[in-house]
Amino acid sequence: MKIDAVLGLSYGDEGKGKICHSLLEKNKYTHVIRFNGGSNAGHTIYHNGKKLITHLIPSGVFYGIKSVIGPGCVVDTHKFFKELEYLEENGIKTEGLVFIAKNAHLVQEIHTDEDSTDISIGTTRTGNGPCYRDKYARNGLRAEQYDKLEPYLIDIYKEFYGSNNKNIRILAEGAQAFHLDIDWGDYPYVTSSHCGIGSVLLNGFNHKQIKNVYGIIKAYDTYVGSKKFQPDEEVFERIQQEGQEFGATTGRKRQCNWLNWDNIRKSILMNGVNHLIINKVDILDKVNAWKIYYEGSVLDLQNQETFENWICSKGTELNTKVYFSYNPYDIKWDDKCKTAKNDLKNLDRFLG
Ligand code: IMO
Ligand code: MG
Repeated sequence: MKIDAVLGLSYGDEGKGKICHSLLEKNKYTHVIRFNGGSNAGHTIYHNGKKLITHLIPSGVFYGIKSVIGPGCVVDTHKFFKELEYLEENGIKTEGLVFIAKNAHLVQEIHTDEDSTDISIGTTRTGNGPCYRDKYARNGLRAEQYDKLEPYLIDIYKEFYGSNNKNIRILAEGAQAFHLDIDWGDYPYVTSSHCGIGSVLLNGFNHKQIKNVYGIIKAYDTYVGSKKFQPDEEVFERIQQEGQEFGATTGRKRQCNWLNWDNIRKSILMNGVNHLIINKVDILDKVNAWKIYYEGSVLDLQNQETFENWICSKGTELNTKVYFSYNPYDIKWDDKCKTAKNDLKNLDRFLG
């Protein structure tokens, strides 16, 4: 069994959906599994030229691949059935493809009611926090306790460890991101699930199965929630507009800031990222500003070439391949840093 994982390395909304979609086209997977979170996620995908947004159902359905909501997730059944309908209405076949781990927990009305009044940390109001709280307090309801879910239930052990289950290749689709992680994010401004590579294993897998870890960032950072994140500079308003930085789940404006390499370095190292994807380079190009936080201060890299070379050199130091994306639809899988090596010397000179 081989697992490739897709993880957000910043604060969510890095374009994980797009990368999953692209990997599904590129590689042969037998399953896609969501391993954390619930309807708080918003994954935007361009499929056959059409923009589609999913919150809960893993992206395997776009390619007719078994799509499993894992035991680390929380499921709002009302939203689950609505999303199945939404996909079908948009020509995506879901029948016989969508499964929920029988030990996943259910988001109940009391959870969404409670969450709907939150202002303290600015949640997505999807009942996520209260549901996980009840899971750990051993007061929760599991998917297997709800009759209407019977046709969708799956036993992870039987599905993946049965004697005739050979050549399984899984794409593990993360939600949220490492800096929203319950333990590693900026507590309490975090989500209530585990968002790192360890979370994949918590869904019934082991470290020997993990092959590739795709870490996703944008060329700048965004954050949605109630802490102040965006500095008072006009350039961030422009990034917000050019990047159409509005939440896919709540429609809220995403606050913007320069990419924080100190955070990304931590995410890469702690999660064993070996492929780093930088989305939305085209947006920074539109505002023509190329800055990064590095070791606590702002580094002005002046142009796109230097910006990309700088990330290449840092990525290479951390043993990860690096890919840049310039549009919302897809990504070219050529390791830019191979060809950029010659420029690294010039870069050293530039940075003194
Ligand atoms: P994807 O998968 C961006 C943020 C919320 C809030 C905090 C806690 O699209 O990257 P929660 O509802 O989880 O209790 O809210 O986490 N948040 C996200 N921000 N993208 C997401 O998911 C998010 N999921 C939760 O805005 O600050
Ligand atoms: Mg989101």
